Amino acid sequence: MIEQPTTLTIPEAAGEAAGQSRFVRACLRLPVDRTPVWFLRQAGRYMPEYMAVRKHHSLLEICRTSEVAAEVTITAAERLGVDAAIIFADLLLPFTPMGVDFEFVAGEGPQVHTPVRSFAQVQALQTDRVEELGYVAQSIERVARHFAAPRADGDQLGIIGFCGAPFTLASYMIEGGSSRNYIESKKMMYASGISGSPESKAWPLLMEKLVDVLAAYAKQQVEAGADVIQVFDSWAGALSVVDYREFCLSPTTELIRRIQAFGVPVIYFGVDTASLLPAMRETGADVLGLDWRTPLAEGWKSVGPGCAVQGNLDPIALFAPEEVLRARVAEVLRQAAGRNGHIFNLGHGIVQGTPVENVIRVVEWVKEMSRR
Ligand code: CP3
Repeated sequence: MIEQPTTLTIPEAAGEAAGQSRFVRACLRLPVDRTPVWFLRQAGRYMPEYMAVRKHHSLLEICRTSEVAAEVTITAAERLGVDAAIIFADLLLPFTPMGVDFEFVAGEGPQVHTPVRSFAQVQALQTDRVEELGYVAQSIERVARHFAAPRADGDQLGIIGFCGAPFTLASYMIEGGSSRNYIESKKMMYASGISGSPESKAWPLLMEKLVDVLAAYAKQQVEAGADVIQVFDSWAGALSVVDYREFCLSPTTELIRRIQAFGVPVIYFGVDTASLLPAMRETGADVLGLDWRTPLAEGWKSVGPGCAVQGNLDPIALFAPEEVLRARVAEVLRQAAGRNGHIFNLGHGIVQGTPVENVIRVVEWVKEMSRR
C-alpha cells in the first residue's frame, strides 16, 4: 500500500475559504449551495464573440496582449453564466522564455521549430527568464479586477490560472507538435533507465527544468489573483501505469506541492486516465479531472474520498438533441449524488462547431438541478 500524501491546502485554506466562492469551496470539498460549473475551452472557436476577436489577432497575439486576453476570458464567462473563468493563454507559452521557438500553423496545431531531443539541447534550456511571461499575470489582474465584486447571486466568480504538466509539455517540446505515438518522448524517457550514458540524464533534467519554470509561472499567476491553478496533463493517458509512475509521478507531485505552497488548490487534469487515476491521486492534487469514458461515481471511487473531482460530460453530448443532453447532465449529477467536492465540467474541451445555446442550457440545468 502506497501512502497517500497529505494535502496541505485543505486545513490551511479551509478557514479562509469559509467566505469564498462556491467554486473554490468545492475544490476544497466544503459544502456549497449548488454544484459549481465551468467548461474546458470555454473561450474558443465555437464562440462567435471569440471568432470576432480572432479575425483581427492571431492566437499568440491574443495571449500576449493582456487587454485582449482578459476581454476574451471575461466575455466567455459572462456569456455562459459559469462560476469560474479560466485565463485565456496557451499551454506552450513557457517555451519562449526557455528558448524553444514555436508557432501555431493553421489547421495543424502547434509546431516547435527545433524539437528538443538530446541531453545537450535539454542543458541549453533556460529557466531564468520566467518574468517574460508577466503578460499572463497582467491578464489575470485585469480579470480579477473585473470580477472583484460578487455577482447578482452574491457569489464571487472563481479565477483559474493554469500551466501544463511536465509530461504533456515535454511531449510537445520533444515531438515538435501533437503526436499519435509519443515515440521520441518515450525514447527519451526509456533512455533514462540506462545509467552511465549522457543521454540517460536528458529526461530527468528536462523534468527538473520544466518543474522550476512552471512553478515560478504559477506563482506569478497566484500573486496576480488566480484562486486555483489547473495543471493540464492532457496526454498522460498515452502512458502505461508503470511508465507514469517511473517517469512522471515524482516531477508532477513536486510541481503540485510547490503550487499548493502558494496557498491555492490545484486541479490536475488528464484525458483517457481511467487506469492512471490512483497514481494521479498520489500527486496530492486537491481535485482530479475525470474524462467521460468512466461513469463519474466509478472514477471518484478509484480516486478515493479524500479528493474532489471535476467532470465529466462528454463534450460531444453538446451536439445531442435537448432531451438527450438534459438526461446526460442529470446523469452526471446523479453520479455525484450531491457529495461535497464535485465541480461540473466536460471530460475535455468544447470542440469547434458546438452550439453555444446548448452550452448555456447546460449551465442553467446544472444550476437548477443541483440546488441543495
Ligand atoms: O477557455 C479556454 O480554455 C481557452 C484557454 C486555453 C487555450 N489553450 C487557448 C487555445 C487553454 C486552457 C489552452 C490549453 C492547451 N493548449 C492545452 C491543454 C488543454 C486541452 O485541451 O487538453 C493544449 C494541449 C494546448 C496546445 C494547443 N493549443 C493545441 C494542441 C492547439 C491546436 C488545436 C486547434 O484547435 O487548432 C492550440 C490552439 C488553441 N489554444 C486554441 C485556443 C482557444 C484554438 C483556437 C485558435 O486557434 O484560435
